[in-house]
Amino acid sequence: MEKLLLFIKQNLKFLWAVIDSINNAIYGLLFDKTMKRSLNAISNNVDISPYTFKELKASDTNDLYELIKNQKESDLNYFQPHGFDHDSIRGKLKQKAFLMMGIYFEQQLIGYFFLRFFVNKKCFVGRLIDADYRGKGVGLLMNKIMYGIAWNMKFRCLSTISKSNHFIMKAHKKNTTMVVLKELNNNFLLVEFINPDLSNN
Ligand SMILES: CC(C)(COP(=O)(O)OP(=O)(O)OC[C@H]1O[C@@H](n2cnc3c(N)ncnc32)[C@H](O)[C@@H]1OP(=O)(O)O)[C@@H](O)C(=O)NCCC(=O)NCCS
Repeated sequence: MEKLLLFIKQNLKFLWAVIDSINNAIYGLLFDKTMKRSLNAISNNVDISPYTFKELKASDTNDLYELIKNQKESDLNYFQPHGFDHDSIRGKLKQKAFLMMGIYFEQQLIGYFFLRFFVNKKCFVGRLIDADYRGKGVGLLMNKIMYGIAWNMKFRCLSTISKSNHFIMKAHKKNTTMVVLKELNNNFLLVEFINPDLSNN
């Protein structure tokens, strides 16, 4: 199923847009409240000091635009969840099934991470950290938040990662929650992050 959806996303843009908007509408009806509750619960229970995080809103469009624009072009080779111009970011921020969050150090946006939800109770996560803040464990903090929200909502938490993306492979090397589900085309892996509290049941 994921393979088919990825194929449609990459090759049949019009069909993907239709699926995306139907998914978004149904998701809003069925899961928006649960998502808000889970986001709230994680915000209250996960301490990421000295950093802070929040859901991004339309007023954060320019900060996110600047964060992405300031990264090397090659850093975006494997990170293409949506367009990076102002209109694309603003459009994405309106989608209920696409939760966008920012991580901050002293009021400055230093990382962007998201969960893309599907009504079949699966979600996909992704993230980008400002080059000056990599290798400091910020990705691990994002993991706690992203996985925490997905697991709290009882959604399966998935991602597609490229074996050629040295940074993400290195970041996940010690990630004991990650299992590889499938090898995809173009050297990509479909991976799942499994809640350790449930894996022994
Ligand atoms: C992929 C990406 C998010 C990884 O960033 P990162 O900062 O390396 O991510 P992590 O926080 O998981 O890194 C942990 C590293 O920080 C180190 N670290 C330093 N201080 C730390 C601390 N206080 N706590 C935990 N880890 C710390 C860890 O030891 C680890 O390094 P190691 O792998 O050598 O052991 C980043 O490279 C990026 O934004 N790339 C561009 C976008 C992209 O490709 N995104 C992925 C596609 S979805």
